[in-house]
Amino acid sequence: MKIAVIGTGYVGLVTGTCLSETGNSVICVDIDPDKVQKMKSGIIPIYEPGLDVLFHRNIKQDRLHFTTDLAEAVKHAEIIFLALPTPPGGDGAADLSYILSASLEIAKLVKEYKVIVNKSTVPVGTADKVSAVFKENLAPGITVDVVSNPEFLREGVAVEDFMKPDRVVIGTRSETAKRLMTELYAPYVRQGNPIIYMDERSSELTKYAANSFLATKITFMNEIANLCELVGADVDAVRRGIGSDDRIGRRFLFPGVGYGGSCFPKDVQALVKSASDAAYDFKILKSVISVNEKQKVVLVNKVKKYFNGNIKDKSFAIWGLAFKPETDDIREAPSLYIINELLELGAKVSVYDPEAMGNVKALLGDRIDYSIDPYEALNGADALLIVTEWSAFRNPDFEKMKALLKANVIFDGRNLFDIEKMTDLGFYYNSIGRKLVNNES
Ligand code: UDX
Repeated sequence: MKIAVIGTGYVGLVTGTCLSETGNSVICVDIDPDKVQKMKSGIIPIYEPGLDVLFHRNIKQDRLHFTTDLAEAVKHAEIIFLALPTPPGGDGAADLSYILSASLEIAKLVKEYKVIVNKSTVPVGTADKVSAVFKENLAPGITVDVVSNPEFLREGVAVEDFMKPDRVVIGTRSETAKRLMTELYAPYVRQGNPIIYMDERSSELTKYAANSFLATKITFMNEIANLCELVGADVDAVRRGIGSDDRIGRRFLFPGVGYGGSCFPKDVQALVKSASDAAYDFKILKSVISVNEKQKVVLVNKVKKYFNGNIKDKSFAIWGLAFKPETDDIREAPSLYIINELLELGAKVSVYDPEAMGNVKALLGDRIDYSIDPYEALNGADALLIVTEWSAFRNPDFEKMKALLKANVIFDGRNLFDIEKMTDLGFYYNSIGRKLVNNES
């Protein structure tokens, strides 16, 4: 099929590339000429495991194209995906200006029936707003259908999530659009995972409900972990104990330093705002937001307590900056909150991350030190803080760590190590919701 994808951010690029992989002819459009030039010459603007293979293969096979020319893409495509940013506006509601202005431009270019698919995460009612823009601006006699088709891609495994989705949600009441979308997604659900059809508004809400539910699940576990510490229970045991109940499930029960990233914080906020616009007070989600804010600095609070509030001129190593492993994304990353707190308290900070160092450097410059490997960051540090659970941190050389650290003190925001092992190794080891290992007392 012939496809256009408008916007080559994270979602647009993964969507365009993965759609070309099953034989579709895809044109991706971006307004940034430098970015388009780079992609044309085979440079991927984001880090996403596995994307490069598909990207290069489909460019080579002439199925994946990049352009700044919206008219060319609109002419080419029978299905046009909108994958544009919906940043939070001042009041927490998603800002629809990119989507609505692109819709206006596209409407003026359309000369025959098209399916317009909204991939971005947008508040309930957006498909109606986009439809209205088209209705007002299409040439007489021409129609389009606007479909809601939210993405459920996790960064780091986005290619797999796209190629083998748990489900595809298609929100449309048009039989023609439904038929075309079903044909497009058929190769991706061959293993039997469902395409779930619904109306546009339910589809838009499904995306917010999914992310907000997951954010709530994580936040609930973070609170259980905090309670475990106070009552002498072990969150790992509790996690296993509840996760084996199918109704709860094993996934997304890992306590840590709070959720971050480009989706959960933004989507939870936006759902609270949508609810309040509809005169509904979404109490659970308001609590999720405030608990998560506190959780982001839970590690710093542990540090402060350990040093009796005096961390001025102390130096800290931080392992992990990305909001989660296998990405270079630092949007709403707990690491940034932790670093800011430490700097404000007068501490020195030395960091290491396998992928996200460049992004952090662009933001924080020389306010902190950047290390070439995890061990360099430890040199002379008063303590190590583990913030992102990269696999490379899971089995480190503990003796080497001891030799480099000024004191054998670890605050682990991701529960990477065994309590028994850390006890035997002689560390002070403070993790989330588990027994404190204190070899110093
Ligand atoms: C999320 C959704 O999973 C995806 O379906 C949606 O389309 C976009 O938002 P992503 O932001 O890439 O994907 O990350 P995800 O793997 O869901 O993790 C989100 C945050 O929750 C991270 O900060 C992660 O560290 C945290 N998390 C996740 C936990 O703290 N504990 C867990 O058990 C799982």
